[in-house]
Amino acid sequence: MSALKKQEQEEREFLFTRDDFVRIKSLIYRHAGISLSDAKTDMVYSRIGRRLRALDMQSFKHYLDALEQHNDADEWQAFTNALTTNLTSFFREEHHFPILADHLAKLATGRHAKPIRIWCSAASTGEEPYSIAMTACEAFNSLKPPVEIIATDIDTNVLATAAAGVYPVDRIKKMEDSRVRKFFEKGTGKHDGLVRVKKAVRELIHFHQLNLLDAQWPFHDGFDVIFCRNVMIYFDKPTQGKIIDKFVTLMHEDSLLLAGHSENFLYVSDHLQLLGKTVYKLKTSGAARSSLFTNRKSS
Ligand SMILES: C[S@@+](CC[C@H](N)C(=O)[O-])C[C@H]1O[C@@H](n2cnc3c(N)ncnc32)[C@H](O)[C@@H]1O
Repeated sequence: MSALKKQEQEEREFLFTRDDFVRIKSLIYRHAGISLSDAKTDMVYSRIGRRLRALDMQSFKHYLDALEQHNDADEWQAFTNALTTNLTSFFREEHHFPILADHLAKLATGRHAKPIRIWCSAASTGEEPYSIAMTACEAFNSLKPPVEIIATDIDTNVLATAAAGVYPVDRIKKMEDSRVRKFFEKGTGKHDGLVRVKKAVRELIHFHQLNLLDAQWPFHDGFDVIFCRNVMIYFDKPTQGKIIDKFVTLMHEDSLLLAGHSENFLYVSDHLQLLGKTVYKLKTSGAARSSLFTNRKSS
């Protein structure tokens, strides 16, 4: 052990060895598909360290032995929640939302008698599914647009925040006033400084826990739009490929799949074609490029 590592270890509250890190890395990869690089060592120490503190344990080895031996579902969930990264914001990568609005309008005038089905597959604390819901309300000029939004995430803590729909007012400081007035109520008294998404908008979304790695997803019908943004970056290519193959089975000819700005699904699937702006559709043989973006500047 180098002198620096030895000093770090001595300064730490809990015994945390390289073997412990490698073990955590392997467990979270198998359980959630998340690939942790060595650069995440301190993050892992700090986040799992909180679990040790909560359980009054002295070493990572003791904690990991207990996790594996007792196989307690709640502790597995706490372990997973501790290792996810949940960064998100309202109307993040905002270029996708006018595309969504156009697509909804197109679907509504086309084949759809049933509600338009949208899946937000890494919903985090809810800002993304609520942005989708607000976009649908605006597209149909109604607080009851003909959409059904399913929002899922592996992390139960963020899903609880998402379902409550309560945020510090700072989270919406960049949002247009008209949107804020239409879709939020401001807290008063002990809720001062908080805003809540209005009930009508919250009711457009069904929140469920779902691990994208699960062999079976609980869906019988396909989706018209799938948001899978800024989660694939945590997975390696084989894992990404398996998940995309399953998305493909849930897409119709005119469904859209939206990725995050740094995610490229063409490297992991032969079934998709890129429309631009990290928006994909199913590849159709000899398909011409969709006209979805012809009136927009490319980013
Ligand atoms: C960085 S956030 C992205 C949130 C949102 N999609 C956005 O773009 O703003 C990544 C989310 O993916 C979730 N996640 C990580 N692994 C997952 C898995 N195996 N299945 C489902 N969700 C997962 C995390 O819990 C986290 O909330």
